[in-house]
Parts: sequence; structure tokens; C-alpha cells
Amino acid sequence: MFDATVYSNRRARLRQDAGKGIILLPGNVDAAFNYPANQYHFRQDSTFLYFFGLDHPGLAGLMDLDSGEDWIFGNDVDMDDIIWMGVLPSIRDLAAGAGVTHTAPYGGLGPVIDKAVGQGRKVHFLPPYRGETSLELQRLLKIPAADLKADSSLPLIKAVIAQRSIKDAGEIAEIEKAIGTAFLMHTTAMKMAKPGVWEQEIAGTIEGIAMANGGPVSFPVILSMNGQTLHNHDHSQYLQKGRLLVVDAGCETGMHYASDLTRTMPVGGTFDARQKPVYEAVLAANMKGIEAVKPGVLYRDIHLLAALTLAEGLKSIGLMKGNMADAVAAGAHALFLPHGLGHMMGLDVHDMENLGQIYVGYDDEIQPASQFGLAFLRLGRRLQSGFVLTVEPGCYFIPALIDQWRSEGLHKEFINYSEVEKYKDFGGIRIEDDVLVTETGGKVLGKPVPKTVEEVEKIML
Ligand code: GLY
Repeated sequence: MFDATVYSNRRARLRQDAGKGIILLPGNVDAAFNYPANQYHFRQDSTFLYFFGLDHPGLAGLMDLDSGEDWIFGNDVDMDDIIWMGVLPSIRDLAAGAGVTHTAPYGGLGPVIDKAVGQGRKVHFLPPYRGETSLELQRLLKIPAADLKADSSLPLIKAVIAQRSIKDAGEIAEIEKAIGTAFLMHTTAMKMAKPGVWEQEIAGTIEGIAMANGGPVSFPVILSMNGQTLHNHDHSQYLQKGRLLVVDAGCETGMHYASDLTRTMPVGGTFDARQKPVYEAVLAANMKGIEAVKPGVLYRDIHLLAALTLAEGLKSIGLMKGNMADAVAAGAHALFLPHGLGHMMGLDVHDMENLGQIYVGYDDEIQPASQFGLAFLRLGRRLQSGFVLTVEPGCYFIPALIDQWRSEGLHKEFINYSEVEKYKDFGGIRIEDDVLVTETGGKVLGKPVPKTVEEVEKIML
């Protein structure tokens, strides 16, 4: 945990921003894996962590915006808990660590909410994303679970996003720690990517590195020679020389700050003549994107700049043709890059996505586009210093998509389909870094993971 004053200060700011009434922030509870007593590793809710820091199941935070009191509701461990799980500090002591002086048993929460609702006070809550939380909010607020999202508090959503979007020095240090572990994960994958090795062996090894360094992984490891499938969790293949291996993986620190890096490597250690120029085109898009990061710039424009850079690279290979600015404006590059350039990152790998991407990545100035490809951009708004985001261009040869576009004659003035046809067995490439928006530009966080052709080939020797 950070120092108690960090959480007190965050709540003080939230109090200013959220208006009147009470804020109810339920923490997560344990979730059953395959039967009730066999549970997933506990993962606390990120907003609860941000404002209260307590990484234990079965707690709820309540902030009375009118009296200024903050409360933690939760039960002290009993003898059964002690026998099976060990001793825990009392709720009072836990709460003190978050700068909270008011505590009560969990059963006291319902009557407090009932009283507030009876008095006509506003109860602000966030849209739930777990079934257990939905059921608990339904019980506490008497709002049908199906209506909770619509009835959640927009002022609270916006206030939380405004605050969590800007990372302070302590958070950035945690993210860099997570990237330090991701460095080990990715360089290990590079060293292991030899012909004949089972993908699963690499996936398991790097997941183990995450666990051994604080862990868990910040999202299920994406690792496959079939990198044309963007989120490929199938690790069943044995590596073959001449193929590319995409590894998209990151981890959480003990405090749950995330990393999210992607590297693509040639099985056997050398990019071949067909792979190298495509890799260089993606790398150029990654580096141009990073160079363009600075406060005040629309991230949508950086996405488009990266797309243009990629398209120009593909034109030089003969896969695209015509005027590339026109091609990108028309969305033709999305055959190769059908996803957005990046997303916010912090306590969640897609930071705050549970609060609504429209509020995290967009605002009154800019709304999501409807064009294929650009529509999947999670972050479009103007950057501010303190944002941490990913820059992750890719280039994919998705046979089904190629066939569909070709049969429809889509963007045939920009796509050299007869050449693209020869790449249907290519797979995909993605290169991703985690970048802090500074006062003047962008800074790639953490120890640099090999990225250029020479660096990747050297570490794979
Ligand atoms: N790196 C996985 C994702 O961004 O969804």
C-alpha cells in the first residue's frame, strides 16, 4: 500500500468533484472457480484499491459527501478464518492504513444505505462488472441488477476517471516495476523461441515469471505463431522455423499496477527476407507513434499517423498502392491494422474500461469513429501529462478478412490484392510499449525490451 495520506488525499479530491450524497464503493469478494470453496486468486476492484488501498475481500467503502466521513464496512476474521487463512489485522487497523477512522461490521452497511435512500439522498455508485457485485448492489439499493449500469452515477464515473487518468510518481514507479518483470518475460520468450519448442512451454514459463515477481499476469498471455488472430490464447503449436511468434504479455505488481508489452520474434532467431520489411514497417509505426506522444495531441491523430507510417511501409513492399494519406482516410490500411493504436494503462491493463470506454478514451470534443479499424481505438482524446498508455501498432494477414475484402473489391485502388494473397500464411506482427505522457513529450517506461531487428536477433542467438 501507499502511505495513508495518499488515499486520504485521493478521497478528498473525489469529495470535491463528486457533488452531494454518498459514494458507495464496494470491494470485490472471492469468486468461485469450480466449486464454492475452490476460489480464483482474489483480485480487488481497482477503484476500491485506488481510493482505499485495502487488498482483502468482503469490504465496502462509503464516503459521506455531506458530513465528510469515510467508512470501511467489513468483518473481522473469526476463528474459522484464522484456522484456514491465518490471522489478519482488525478492520479498524486495516482502515487506519488507508486513513479511514470510521469502521463497522459489514452488516451495518445495509441500514446506512436504507437510511440515506429514505432521506432522498443520492447514492453514487459505479457500474458493476461482476455478478457478485451486481447482486450485492441490487440487495443494498433495491435496484434490479439489469438497471444498475443505467442507474450508476455519471458524475462519479467522470470524477474517478479524471483522477485515475493522471498517474503520480508512486504509481509510475509501480508501473515501471511491472514493466521490469515484463522485460524478463519477453526476453525469456525470445531466448526460448527455437524450432520444436511447444508454445505452451513458453507461455507457462513467462506466466511463472510474472507469478514469481509479484504476479499474476495482467491479462491472459497472448502467445502464438498464429499472430494474425489478435488475442490468440491457443498455445498448442510446436514452433517452426520460418514462422513469427507474437508474444503479448504483462504482469501486475503486488499493488496491482499493470504492464502490457508485445514483441514479435522470428522462430529460430533470424527474420527472413519477407518478414523483415513488414517488421520494419510496424516498428516505424511504433516509433513514429511514440515520438508523437505529447500533451495536447489527440491520440486519434497519433493512431492515424502510425497507420500512415505503416501504410507507407506496406506500399514500399508492394502490398498497398496509390496515395497513402487517401488510403488511411478511407480506412484501407485497416485490412492490415484492424485495431486501435493503444489504450490507457494503470491499475487495469485497459485502465478503467469497466467505467465505460466512451468516458475513458473520449470526451465532449471527440467521439469514437464508426469506420472499421478506427472504431476499435480505445483512446482518442487529447493527451495530458501523467497519462500512461500503450503504443501498439501491428500488421496482420487475416485470410478470412482478405478473402472478404477482395471478394467485395473493397479499397482495391489502395490494396494490391494479388500481392497480399501471397502473405496469407504470414501470421502477424505487433510491437507494443508502455508510454508516459510527460510535460513535454512521451517517455517509454521501464527497461527497453529488444525491439529493432538487430536487437531481437542478437538476444535470440
Ligand atoms: N495486450 C492485450 C490488450 O491490450 O488487449
